[in-house]
Amino acid sequence: MQTDVVVMAAGKGTRMKSKLPKVLHRLGGRALVVHVIDTAARVSARRVVVITGHGASEVEAHLSIPSSAGGTFGLENGAPAAAAPELSFVRQEPQLGTGHAVQQAMPALADDGVTLVLSGDVPLTEPATLQALLDVCDGQHLALLTLTMPDPTGYGRIERNAAGDVQAIVEHKDATDAQRQITEIYSGIMAVPTAKLRAWLARLDNKNAQGEYYLTDVVKFAVADGCAVRAHRITDAVQVAGVNSPLQLAELERAYQRRCAEQLLTQGVRLADPARFDLRGSLTCGQDVDIDINAVFEGRVVLGDGVRIGANCCIANAVIEAGAVIHPYTHIDGEKLGVKVGPGALIGPFARLRPGADLGPEVHIGNFVEVKNSTLAAGAKANHLAYLGDATVGERVNYGAGSITANYDGANKHRTVIEADVHVGSNCVLVAPVTIGAGGTVGGGSTITKSTAPGSLSVARGKQVSIANWARPAKKKPA
Ligand code: UD1
Ligand code: CA
Repeated sequence: MQTDVVVMAAGKGTRMKSKLPKVLHRLGGRALVVHVIDTAARVSARRVVVITGHGASEVEAHLSIPSSAGGTFGLENGAPAAAAPELSFVRQEPQLGTGHAVQQAMPALADDGVTLVLSGDVPLTEPATLQALLDVCDGQHLALLTLTMPDPTGYGRIERNAAGDVQAIVEHKDATDAQRQITEIYSGIMAVPTAKLRAWLARLDNKNAQGEYYLTDVVKFAVADGCAVRAHRITDAVQVAGVNSPLQLAELERAYQRRCAEQLLTQGVRLADPARFDLRGSLTCGQDVDIDINAVFEGRVVLGDGVRIGANCCIANAVIEAGAVIHPYTHIDGEKLGVKVGPGALIGPFARLRPGADLGPEVHIGNFVEVKNSTLAAGAKANHLAYLGDATVGERVNYGAGSITANYDGANKHRTVIEADVHVGSNCVLVAPVTIGAGGTVGGGSTITKSTAPGSLSVARGKQVSIANWARPAKKKPA
């Protein structure tokens, strides 16, 4: 039977104390609700209906950008998402409770399916857990995901009869003292045959301590109708933990990062310290990859065999090929164009690679060197304090300390071409558009405005004047 997912995301999230709608706060680099939608895709949901309310237009706009909702996140060894589910939105205004929220979604759901109810602020449920819940539901039963908690304060309690069959979910505020002793709680996640859900939701009322329409009241109706209620009890609280405050968000962020780090370690990636590793996107690693402390990976990053990442590097949207070494404190962000670092290249420390940096094999980029939208062919080196922007750099070029490509005339960007085997001295300015011919040399301190012939030496600076025995002006002695 087909699965349709309802994601409750209308709540205010007052305790976040933020202008941003709660479900758009980020965990591992993407919005909480995007984690939930991605999980829905991984249980092959047919459609996902997101119930919005507070900040509805912001949430809807965020999820309507294809790159924010889709794409692969986390580590790519998990079950790949099947075809993206069809995504739609319904608004719940005002918010009269979780039952009222799901009522708003019913017109978007077909009776031939099972409805899986999720919350937009519960990001770390494993697809396998939801699949197990769907199996328990089996297209005909009411299946509840439950958990035993040492301190169940605030949660709905799972009330069972003497035979152990679930009879009801009793909200904390409505519970008697005896019911409050129950430690098995409802996680907020259930799977229900949609036709039955529709009938039960029509019977909800708000005669309870909070004056709300409780989704959890469907349990009573299921029992009354003789429909089996099955609890799928798990032990991993992180999987059903919701985010209500910055503290909870930070705790779940650590749990998520721990999970990612453990997966990488299991794959054979060597992390100097799994507690000092952050992945805010997807990371694919080859064999014998070493990652030192405090590395932050964002967007889509691929590390080839034997790559070493030094301490305190930020690396986003980049492909780093086999054997390359990224020394400490290097900042790489390919944004949309991407960055490529070729095999055996040495980058940093303190280097900056920007969008469109495309470095060939064995390229060296040293400290305080910035590269943007430039290709460097095999063996090219820029080792100190330099800028290469909109440049095409040939094989074995040596680009001196302090040299820059002046690529911007105030209105347009122009290219600099430095052909193979050129040596550019220190502190040169190459005013684009300009080509330095193959094998040529540019003397230190030159400002080059005209292209140079292959094999030539070009010097473009004031000629040195030396005055012998020159007496420096001296201060007058006070009279
Ligand atoms: C709910 C359950 C409770 C369970 C707990 C687990 C009910 C009545 N109670 O409690 O049994 O133990 O979750 O966390 O369902 N939301 C809306 N519209 C609304 C109200 C809520 O979209 O009108 C959304 C919230 O944004 C949130 C989710 O539904 O994402 C759950 O709401 P919340 O208020 O946290 O549920 P509780 O009442 O705490
Ligand atoms: Ca709550």
